[in-house]
Amino acid sequence: TTPLRLGIAGLGTVGAGVVKIVQSRANLLAQRSGRPVVITAVSARTRDKDRGVDLSAYDWEDDPVALARRDDVDVLVELMGGSDGPAKAATEAAIASGKDVVTANKAMLAIHGQALAEAAEEAGRVIRFEAAVAGGIPVVKALTEGLAGNSIERVMGVMNGTCNYILTRMEGEGLPYETVFDEANALGYLEADPTLDVGGIDAGHKLALLASIAFGTRVDFAGVELEGIERISIDDIRHAADMGFRIKLLGVAQMTGRGLEQRMSPCLVPASSPLGTLEGPTNMVVLEGDAVGQVFLRGAGAGEGPTASAVMGDVMDIARGFRVSTFGAPAAALEPARAARASAA
Ligand code: NAP
Ligand code: HSE
Repeated sequence: TTPLRLGIAGLGTVGAGVVKIVQSRANLLAQRSGRPVVITAVSARTRDKDRGVDLSAYDWEDDPVALARRDDVDVLVELMGGSDGPAKAATEAAIASGKDVVTANKAMLAIHGQALAEAAEEAGRVIRFEAAVAGGIPVVKALTEGLAGNSIERVMGVMNGTCNYILTRMEGEGLPYETVFDEANALGYLEADPTLDVGGIDAGHKLALLASIAFGTRVDFAGVELEGIERISIDDIRHAADMGFRIKLLGVAQMTGRGLEQRMSPCLVPASSPLGTLEGPTNMVVLEGDAVGQVFLRGAGAGEGPTASAVMGDVMDIARGFRVSTFGAPAAALEPARAARASAA
């Protein structure tokens, strides 16, 4: 049987996690997909760096674009991050040279996802991005597969683990925002640019991707009303608690009489509700379908194992020949979200 050959660009937290799974579960992956899943080449910024994994069996490429173009790579696994730069260049190069792409890069997809999806579709390739939304929780698969027979009425949830960690630590320990922010930083939770987390931007990227899948609209990050958690004080949290509520950075996307609404902002949720019980760097996504009602998905939204798990789910789908379209509908057929808003108004 023909192996599925991966080229991995980015060997940080997530990339190293993917290498570990491929190396440690070779038989299981082959058994489940019917073919061997192998790594042929890898790329990162610095070659001589101990990453806790043995990379000696793989070819090294300094340039991720060259990696994406290699004849012995079937799938580019893009795990570098950044909305533009090498991530976008390597993704475009992969599609142009007939490769599928698996990525965890929500920043790139929230900005360029539509154009990349259309390019992929034109080339007969797929871009899969389960890991980009809510880390280890298989929410993209839930929407595109399990709930495919539903009309989705609403998608909501806590989609940034760092913010949930900060808010629950402030509440639990009575600590000020600044102290917990520094603590989260020391634990390595924050993105390289922390405003992506605390400004709600990272969670907004994820909401825009989910909304596109749920409502068949083009990805519209600019249409997300955004507010972060920077101005939440310990007094706000105490007052909410006195009334039986907790403050969560909550995303809501729904199709209303005014069209597609997308909001990511600090909200009061009842302390005893499923969202209200969410502690630490955890995510919860609530999907509402007309046939199924509410479905709650809860789990690790970040970290090496959970994110690599989601990446591998996509790799395995490609290995099995499952080629469902990226955004749950042909990219070219998606309604522009702004037009959907206007026409529904
Ligand atoms: P990371 O630890 O910072 O790793 C990034 C990797 O990309 C590093 O290996 C780095 O090389 C490499 N890289 C950066 N710029 C490069 C360039 N110009 N050329 C070649 N390689 C380059 O990041 P991460 O946490 O693994 O995240 C990777 C992706 O997953 C991002 O899109 C992130 O948003 C997404 N994601 C992460 C998590 C998470 O929990 N970490 C969860 C969900 C999604 P060096 O190692 O040599 O510096
Ligand atoms: N910074 C993100 C979070 C990483 O805290 O949720 C996972 O996307």
